[in-house]
Amino acid sequence: MTIDLRRFDVVDSTNAECRRIADGGYGGNIWIVSGEQSAGRGRRGREWVSRPGNFFASLLYAIDCDLRTASQLSFVAALAVRDVVADILQSNDSIKCKWPNDILVGGKKISGILLETTGLGGETPSHVIIGIGINVSHYPHNPQYPATSLKDEGYTVEPELVMDRLARSMAHWISRWKDHGFSLIRQAWKDNARGLGQDIIVRLPDEELRGRFVDLDDNGALILEFDGERRHITAGDVFFA
Ligand code: BTN
Repeated sequence: MTIDLRRFDVVDSTNAECRRIADGGYGGNIWIVSGEQSAGRGRRGREWVSRPGNFFASLLYAIDCDLRTASQLSFVAALAVRDVVADILQSNDSIKCKWPNDILVGGKKISGILLETTGLGGETPSHVIIGIGINVSHYPHNPQYPATSLKDEGYTVEPELVMDRLARSMAHWISRWKDHGFSLIRQAWKDNARGLGQDIIVRLPDEELRGRFVDLDDNGALILEFDGERRHITAGDVFFA
C-alpha cells in the first residue's frame, strides 16, 4: 500500500485539508500532518485544542466499500494508535481502548480519533478521513475527561517520531483488517478495552444510560445491558462508574 505524506507547519484542521484534497479529485492515500491546527475539531462538534508540541495528523484513505464497513476503520486506527503509545511508553497493560475510539493511559485520555467520510453523499464514500490527535507534550485540563500526555508519562519524543511509527502501525493494522476482516479487529479491540463486562454510564444527546458494557456488536456498536434489555449504541460518550 503506497501512502504519500504532506507536512504543514500550521493548517486549520488536517481533516479539513484531507477533505479539500479529496474534493480536488485526488484518488490515492495520503497522510497530512501538521505542527499546529488553528481549528482542530473533535468528536460531536467539539473543539480539539491543537497547540504546537502535540501530534495532529489525518490519513485520507481511498475506499471502495459501504459506510458501515468504512466505519470499522475507527477501531483499526484505535489499535494502531494503542500500539504506538504502548511502544513509546514501553508499557502494555495500562494502555486501553475506550469506546468508541479513545486511547487511555492509566484511565486518562492520551489520544482521540475523528473519522469522517467524503464522497458524493451516497452510501459508498470515496475516501475515509482518519484524524488522529496524540498528546505528546501537553494536554487540555478538563475535569470531566482526565487526560495525560507522553511527556507527563515520562517520555519526551518528537512528533516526527510519532508520525513515523503511526504510519507503520496503521499500515500493519489496515492490512490485518483487509486480510481477516472486522472479526479480528473486534477481538483485538476487546482484548484491550477498558470497561468491558463492567458497569458504565453512556451519555447520549438527550439521555444518560447506566448499565453493563456486555459486548461490541458486529458493526462496532456498544451493547449495553440494563433493566433486562440490551441496547446497541452507535454514538455517545462513555464514563466509568
Ligand atoms: C476526539 O474528540 O476525541 C477526536 C479528536 C480528533 C483530533 C484530531 S487532531 C488531527 C485531526 N484533525 C482534526 O481537526 N481533528 C483530528
